[in-house]
Amino acid sequence: MRVAVLQGGRSLERQVSLQSGQRVEESLRRLGHEVHGVDIDHAFVRSLGELRPDVAFVALHGEDGEDGTVQELLEVLGIPYTGSAPAACERCWDKVVAKRTLADAGIATPDAVSVSESAFKQLGAADALGLVGERIGFPLVVKPSRQGSALGLRMVQSAGEAPAALVAALSYDDRVLLERFVDGRDLSVSVLGGETLPIVEVQPGDLDPYSARYTIGQSTFTCPADLDAATLAAAESLALRAFEALGCRGFARVDLLVDRTTGDLTVLEVDAVPGLTHTSYLPVAAEAAGIGFDALVERLVGLALQQAPTAA
Ligand SMILES: Nc1ncnc2c1ncn2[C@@H]1O[C@H](COP(=O)(O)OP(=O)(O)O)[C@@H](O)[C@H]1O
Ligand SMILES: [Mg+2]
Repeated sequence: MRVAVLQGGRSLERQVSLQSGQRVEESLRRLGHEVHGVDIDHAFVRSLGELRPDVAFVALHGEDGEDGTVQELLEVLGIPYTGSAPAACERCWDKVVAKRTLADAGIATPDAVSVSESAFKQLGAADALGLVGERIGFPLVVKPSRQGSALGLRMVQSAGEAPAALVAALSYDDRVLLERFVDGRDLSVSVLGGETLPIVEVQPGDLDPYSARYTIGQSTFTCPADLDAATLAAAESLALRAFEALGCRGFARVDLLVDRTTGDLTVLEVDAVPGLTHTSYLPVAAEAAGIGFDALVERLVGLALQQAPTAA
């Protein structure tokens, strides 16, 4: 089969995507496919039109690849592709939209308020920050609505620290979230073909883990996570409900928090195009389920072909 591995691009997560892409390419070659690595740029549509792959493997992260843009173009081109369709990608990529969609489905997420840049500039939203702080409480987390890998994310201990954190988050997106800080355990639940894989518990060193996360040996995680039976079952079912509510297909990674005091579970975010590097959680979870990387890649390609766009 001829497979185009889409990777790179102009997003801030370009380097991680290249790592995912490289690993996927090697795997597809081992599986005997005709592999074409495509670093997406201005010639993307033209080169894919010429290449006419049987399937596109989306190994992109960040804007374009994760927000539904590339998926929309693949629909137009009539090329089957791995993972979720444009609408679900868009919902997952925008944390405000994701939280609202989850709330509508009765799925808990940490309490939050979203504020746009224009609310600050045109409507004096800065004057509402005191009320926001009272409602959510400190510490709280400020983050851009659309971004990944903890970029632009900061923990705020008091009202005085909020403006600087907001300015930082607004440099990534024109909408930001002020979210309740949950003192909890970080669980990553991977969903593959409608089923959950063993849960990964992540021990983030601090709240700015970008550099640590993609370097082997620095990030710590445990898989399968050490959870009591009730929490395990609740986490699995919550992850599947979140996956469904956002309309994901194929695979995704659902990140949950378990409150250390109450044991309550909330959905932090859903990653519609999870990383596939050597330190990424989804492949680690698959491995724990006895699904090696090549089997995982083959499975994702198979799922993509089942969901082939009709336009082909
Ligand atoms: N409200 C929160 N409470 C506690 N920890 C949080 C909260 N928001 C984010 N974090 C921590 O920061 C990490 C990254 O945040 P996340 O919302 O997943 O953004 P990103 O899209 O950048 O991964 C999380 O995995 C978690 O460890
Ligand atoms: Mg995250």
